[in-house]
Amino acid sequence: MQKQMVFPNGFLWGGAIAANQVEGAWDVDGKGMSVADVAKLKPNIAVSDYKNQWHVGSKDIKEAMATVDPLYYPKRRGIDFYHHYEEDIKLFAEMGFKVLRLSIAWTRIFPNGVETEPNQAGLNFYRRVFETLKKYHIEPVVTLSHYEMPLYLVNHYDGWVSRDVIDFFVRFSKVVFNEYKDLVKYWISFNEIDSVFRHPFTTIGVVEDKYENQDRLDEAIYQAVHNQFVASALATKYLREISPDAKMGAMITKTQTYPETCNPKDVLLASQANRKNYFYSDVQVRGEYPSYILKEFKDRGLNVDFGDNDLEVLKKNTVDYLSLSYYMSRVVSVDMDSKEITGGNLTSGIKNPYLETSDWGWQIDPIGLRIGLVDLYDRYQIPLFIVENGLGAKDHLKADGTIEDDYRIDYFRSHIEQMYEAIQEGVELMGYTPWGCIDLISASTSQMDKRYGFIYVDADDFGQGSYQRIPKKSFYWYKDIIESNGASL
Ligand code: BG6
Repeated sequence: MQKQMVFPNGFLWGGAIAANQVEGAWDVDGKGMSVADVAKLKPNIAVSDYKNQWHVGSKDIKEAMATVDPLYYPKRRGIDFYHHYEEDIKLFAEMGFKVLRLSIAWTRIFPNGVETEPNQAGLNFYRRVFETLKKYHIEPVVTLSHYEMPLYLVNHYDGWVSRDVIDFFVRFSKVVFNEYKDLVKYWISFNEIDSVFRHPFTTIGVVEDKYENQDRLDEAIYQAVHNQFVASALATKYLREISPDAKMGAMITKTQTYPETCNPKDVLLASQANRKNYFYSDVQVRGEYPSYILKEFKDRGLNVDFGDNDLEVLKKNTVDYLSLSYYMSRVVSVDMDSKEITGGNLTSGIKNPYLETSDWGWQIDPIGLRIGLVDLYDRYQIPLFIVENGLGAKDHLKADGTIEDDYRIDYFRSHIEQMYEAIQEGVELMGYTPWGCIDLISASTSQMDKRYGFIYVDADDFGQGSYQRIPKKSFYWYKDIIESNGASL
């Protein structure tokens, strides 16, 4: 008899979205411009051209600021969640969601980031969203910063490189903690805080062409992420003062890197890549900088400024849980030449012959998720939460109005099975919120065509369509999984 994969009681099943990829209404009710509003549609870019998918330079910002037309800037229109949130939340409830991970757009609350008084219309919007969730018994998991910092801070403060931004962010955090403390228990400070080197503009507002060489750019990135660590710790400190039951999580991309061969040189390279990824969670979970990063600062002459109390603040205000995204694994070798390179949400790597890839070249590796969960839990022994996982694919809306996304069901089934195995191996896993539980705009290429959802949204890359919401086959499949707490797998 096949074994039944029943998950622990209280397991937090749900889905995940981010403000800048769903809300639209980019200039409505006093919202300011964010870094997402200048991200151009890039539908034809090669899947392995990771850098250019995300790149935004000084010229791009100027060009984007000169137009109010959302045509080539899809995140300005999202899926119009701003006006559809009630209908969307009702559908999430129909699937049985226990939690919804979403983010607050900083620019709805402080349009430029620097104001001293919040924008009431922005506060009202999220209150309406959280109250609707409450009506359906869905608990929000709220990210404070998901690739949507105010553009003003990029243009006037060099983004997170400036220490002033710590104060602006802490002010924003305090306002939303106070405002929603009765409605929100689970918080996450920064989405994929480890992605600062992979796409610095989106994460920390660093415009790469402003820096004279690689060392100065890297120095700025390290400074910016240090400032984010401190801001996250200060926000956590305040949250604990006003809301002792609330939980603050760190969030990293779980980047599982494999060696191509058993050549120790390949193994070393993979191990070094994995270690680099631990830097971010080490600081936020253990409250300390790993020695190898401090050594790198010294050896390369990188001048990263730590404020007088920063180390103490980091040590005293570590996170309650570690959340992660996981999409794929990656293969590296000392000899990358002449190898087939594939794409992904990590920097590109060698194509793994044992794995299938998505339409966008991302390597589908459910066992990699299990390996990653066990690694992280053994390292930190704090609860883990998978807050992103999913398959970006081209879906086909059939003439009879249905979408048969069996490939997505296969993807989720195989990942949920491996999650279950990781729990059997001792991992404390709080929950699972698949990414883009409703179709949304892609973070990297701003495409609508790259769909992740259980719910189809009738819109194309250029915003044409009825915006009607249509449950896909996977919608009913996931509903059964939640209802049976995994047993129907
Ligand atoms: C994660 C981000 O990196 O990957 C999400 O946190 C993003 O915002 C997701 O959407 C998938 O990436 P993409 O580029 O396919 O949207």
